[in-house]
Amino acid sequence: MKIAVLAGDGIGPEIVQEAVNVLDTLAKIHALDVQYDYADVGGAGYESAGTPLPAESLALAKKADAVLLGAVGGPQWESLDKPLRPEAGLLSLRYELGLFANYRPAKVHEQLIDASTLKADVVRGVDILVVRELVGGIYFGQPRGIKTLDDGQQQGSNTLVYTTSEIERIAHIAFQAARKRSGRVCSIDKANVLESTELWRQVVCRVHSEEYSDVELSHMYVDNAAMQLIRNPKQFDVMLTTNMFGDILSDEASMLTGSIGLLPSASLGKEHAMYEPIHGSAPDIAGQDKANPLATILSVAMMLRYSLGREDMADKIEQAVEQVLANGVRTADIAVSGEYFIGCAAMGHAVCAQLEAM
Ligand code: IPM
Ligand code: MG
Repeated sequence: MKIAVLAGDGIGPEIVQEAVNVLDTLAKIHALDVQYDYADVGGAGYESAGTPLPAESLALAKKADAVLLGAVGGPQWESLDKPLRPEAGLLSLRYELGLFANYRPAKVHEQLIDASTLKADVVRGVDILVVRELVGGIYFGQPRGIKTLDDGQQQGSNTLVYTTSEIERIAHIAFQAARKRSGRVCSIDKANVLESTELWRQVVCRVHSEEYSDVELSHMYVDNAAMQLIRNPKQFDVMLTTNMFGDILSDEASMLTGSIGLLPSASLGKEHAMYEPIHGSAPDIAGQDKANPLATILSVAMMLRYSLGREDMADKIEQAVEQVLANGVRTADIAVSGEYFIGCAAMGHAVCAQLEAM
């Protein structure tokens, strides 16, 4: 199995190292041959090749069985021209690989119930899957840009567009995911104001009635959804939504679990797949061994499940993480005040040791 490893910036290299260690540990136990090809992306790509997505990195990603990505971005690259910024590299990577479906599960671990800023009985048992459309919508719509108007003012603009086929394919993904869970999809839009999401709602309804009448479908406006996620998150199973709403709601959903440092993701297309934590590069703690590697480690579990067909190994990683948390092992982000915590590498080691003991 060939994995393209694009660690990126900030805490990216540290968390990816731990995820690779975990996969290595498991590969050894199962006599699985895994080959890693490393390449730069984001600010690291800009520094080494003058572009946030070097051609060589894209080529490597295209020929791999799966891509493992850390995180991109940092203050030193914020003033670069837009196409040279780290985020542009990540977005092109998603686009070029055709990764239209982004799965972002937010599951509350009972052991971390007190790490959430919300009350225990609100978050206990939460198990949500955000299905985010990833290569369309306002992130990619044309025209876009900043221009100077006749009166001398500047005007920034973006375009929120969705076509029927873009909506259909992500709707199928959400309904199929729901069949393997508790069978409920809530589609999130702003159909009361935005035509693009009025179409979204129509198409989701049609796909549902044509093929998925066994799945329960509901709709919610995004503002209400943001509120409901905090008020009563347990009402949600699969949340199907657009690129930007999914970006926002998945960060919000992460805090139900206690920390954004826990949330993995899978970005899937027809031919390629990429796995990455949903959090960013956290430049403020980069290089200090403070980051939580669990989101990236759990992303490797998703990789094993969706790309490598190893459900058994995926389960093992998830069980090892559960056990480590049950043993009281914590990084700073999930420690409640006064609780002892360890660093990124030690957390990675703890998961590896648990796997070896299983
Ligand atoms: C995410 C991130 C990215 C996004 C950024 C880094 C471009 O926030 O993966 O959620 O907006 O998609
Ligand atoms: Mg985001």
